[in-house]
Amino acid sequence: MAAIVNVNGRIVPEKEATISVFDHGFLYGEGVYEVLRTYRGKPFLLDRHLGRLERSAGAIALPLPLDRLAFGARIAETIAAIPVERPGESEYYLRVILTRGVGDMGYDPALCPEPTLLIIAKELTGPPEWYFERGVPLALVSIVRNHPGAVNPLIKSNNLLNNALAMQEALRKGAVEALMRNYRGEIAECSQSNVFLVNDGRLVTPPLGAGLLAGITREFLFEVAPDAGLSIEERTIREPDLYAADEVFITGTTFEVTPVVEIDGRRIGGGTPGPTARRLLEAYRVRALATVERR
Ligand code: PDD
Repeated sequence: MAAIVNVNGRIVPEKEATISVFDHGFLYGEGVYEVLRTYRGKPFLLDRHLGRLERSAGAIALPLPLDRLAFGARIAETIAAIPVERPGESEYYLRVILTRGVGDMGYDPALCPEPTLLIIAKELTGPPEWYFERGVPLALVSIVRNHPGAVNPLIKSNNLLNNALAMQEALRKGAVEALMRNYRGEIAECSQSNVFLVNDGRLVTPPLGAGLLAGITREFLFEVAPDAGLSIEERTIREPDLYAADEVFITGTTFEVTPVVEIDGRRIGGGTPGPTARRLLEAYRVRALATVERR
């Protein structure tokens, strides 16, 4: 990994990127983040990601240190500093992390006068091509997605223990992603992606009220679906619906539209990527490229 990190405005190689152990992001997981990727080297849906970062930060009473214009400039200068072997051909991964900042121990936000702003940037290497070609196995895990009344999944928070525990269980089962139920037992989302079903050519995904992150890819797919002659319905999904579906796929910034061919060892649809997920992935990439070219 040859990452560079923008630490509060200073770009350094990964080995020199450090923060204080008294940063409340480290001590308490008090912070929010965004993961972006580029298409043709340009950040994709930057404005939407910054909008979500603002909402996440607002939900934990964390002031943003920069306005959108300055954020955009900082991201652009960070991308420009990434060492690449094949300039012009590479895509980039960006993780923007905003924490409460450095302060004495305690939960009072007043202890931390300045937030910490990090941007980790590197070449985008994953996911492997076989995810899209052959589809991935999921595990429906026992870890329940955070209760919206406790830590609302709408907040893209650095406090990722819920997601990490779910993923540990999935990895033990040999799966690529962890699918979680909400506290009511309904299907919510995965540890790093949103979930969709296809039934008779119709797309279904759980509503935000099921307690999930409002994925930028999920939202973009609502706009892409008509390009592929499809529409999406937000509806409660339960476990039997998964196994009765023609297709299942997951969405996320780097997953794009990734077909799911197995859940807990049970085949989904025909056990190979379905035609709808393929069509959507194609339409998604066409629109993503058109979007970055328009900017
Ligand atoms: N994960 N749900 C969860 C819990 C997520 O963490 C993510 C994103 C998504 C998909 O959101 P989007 O389409 O905006 O990427 C859904 C990022 C990529 C991550 O944590 O690395």
